[in-house]
Amino acid sequence: MQQPLSTSSGAMAGPQPGTFRVEDAREMMITGLRNAHGLEQQAIEMLERNAERLEHYPQLKARIAQHLEESRQQQTMVAQALTDLGESPSTIKDTVMGMAQNVQMMMHAAASDEVLKNSFAGYAFEHFEIASYKALMVMARAAGESRVEQVAQQILRQEEEMASWLGQHLPEIVSQHLVLMGSGEQKR
Ligand SMILES: [Fe+2]
Repeated sequence: MQQPLSTSSGAMAGPQPGTFRVEDAREMMITGLRNAHGLEQQAIEMLERNAERLEHYPQLKARIAQHLEESRQQQTMVAQALTDLGESPSTIKDTVMGMAQNVQMMMHAAASDEVLKNSFAGYAFEHFEIASYKALMVMARAAGESRVEQVAQQILRQEEEMASWLGQHLPEIVSQHLVLMGSGEQKR
């Protein structure tokens, strides 16, 4: 008997056995893992760019540095899961997904409110990752790949923690931005 999936965000159901083809689930799961590998690549690049700046936002800088490290580990875990499934690393192509690409494009601006725009984009990106890993868990469960399901769940928790941190700290980031504007530390 399979236990119901559950995360901090609530219970997650999978399809009833016998109502789908396991090989379809497996194929979707492998595509999901490849997409996750690409997503983590984008996350790493975005976080690296952000971690270099933010000298006036030490808490945010530290949290970004932590999530950068987590994202590198996540990408390694995803790559390992693909290797374990017999997918050679050379076939792990990083497909760029539309939404994630758009989010990344929002992050270039060197405007004074760049920290705000990057925080909004980071918040959106984390939620894109949350949706991706939730979906991956359902696919892995349907494919009978409990190891992949566990990996997705572990990564999902870290994405949820990062999203929640950003959501909780956004008011402070906006406040700090205002203070810096007033002190002339930050251009208008
Ligand atoms: Fe991630």
